[in-house]
Amino acid sequence: MTSGKASAPAKIILFGEHFVVYGNPAILASINRRITVAAHTIKDNKIVIESDIGAAGEYSNSGFNPIKGGKDAREILDPLYSAIRQILAARNQKIGIKIDVVSKVPHGLGLGSSAASCVAMAAAVDSLFDRPDRQKVCEWAIESERMIHNNSSGADCYVSTFGGLIHYSKSKGFKKMKSKSPLSMVIASTGVRHSTGDLVASVKKFKDKNEILFSDLAKQASDICTQAMAAISSGNKEKMGKLLSENQALLRQIGVSHEKADDLIDICNGAGALGAKITGAGGGGAVIALAASKQDSKKIAAKIKARGYDSFEVEIDQAGLIV
Ligand code: MEV
Repeated sequence: MTSGKASAPAKIILFGEHFVVYGNPAILASINRRITVAAHTIKDNKIVIESDIGAAGEYSNSGFNPIKGGKDAREILDPLYSAIRQILAARNQKIGIKIDVVSKVPHGLGLGSSAASCVAMAAAVDSLFDRPDRQKVCEWAIESERMIHNNSSGADCYVSTFGGLIHYSKSKGFKKMKSKSPLSMVIASTGVRHSTGDLVASVKKFKDKNEILFSDLAKQASDICTQAMAAISSGNKEKMGKLLSENQALLRQIGVSHEKADDLIDICNGAGALGAKITGAGGGGAVIALAASKQDSKKIAAKIKARGYDSFEVEIDQAGLIV
């Protein structure tokens, strides 16, 4: 094939972020916002990547040449280039490729934009040679994401590849879950972009300094996940909301919340949310709130906007990677 295309969804983490890096379980869902990657073979033996988030550059025998986005372009493009290199090596190919990335996922807010772009990239490039195998795509994407933060649990790439609501742990992989009733959720943005790598490193520092406290918090996070599984499958939204708030209290203790996230959580709860917490790495980023109904989620989203923050209602994506 001379061209291939794939798209992969963003994600939210309902329960267990950060603790999942240390083997704890987490519950995640892919959401209805996607990143699409188109790959075309070209005559020149180089890799040209252009992303609509303002970064473009080319990789050739003489190294990296930024086209758009200056020095920062490299930070965004290197993980994507790594996914391409892995596939070309696995397929024993030496060809030139032009890549176009189109993102409908806000970047740097904890919604899994890096994972989704690595997943879509791996699948689009592999589709130039054969029908991509999802498990393999996920492994390539995790490997590439480790360039962004080398302690990645892999959770974001799993949920982006396989889609839906999943229970994930590093040792057991993922299990698809079903919610008895539809989940009406709102995402609110603090507008503060973060580096997942820096936040994961700051949690590691906290853990190294406070081993006993951290293992107690991890145990509580794991219990919350177990209770959340039961609440989700029985459709007990009040309980789910309560557990979201309990999870947030743990995240605050390990230092990954943010004053704007705390403000947003108060706004969501004041507007009738059943519970709210940061989602993903934290340090700003985004907050998720669970609403009792679709109508309530509209009210919550409107209240957030009225207070000057960005927000949108969100649905769970069931498809995951689409090639
Ligand atoms: C980032 O979306 C989620 C973290 O738990 C890191 C990871 O799982 O690799 C903070």
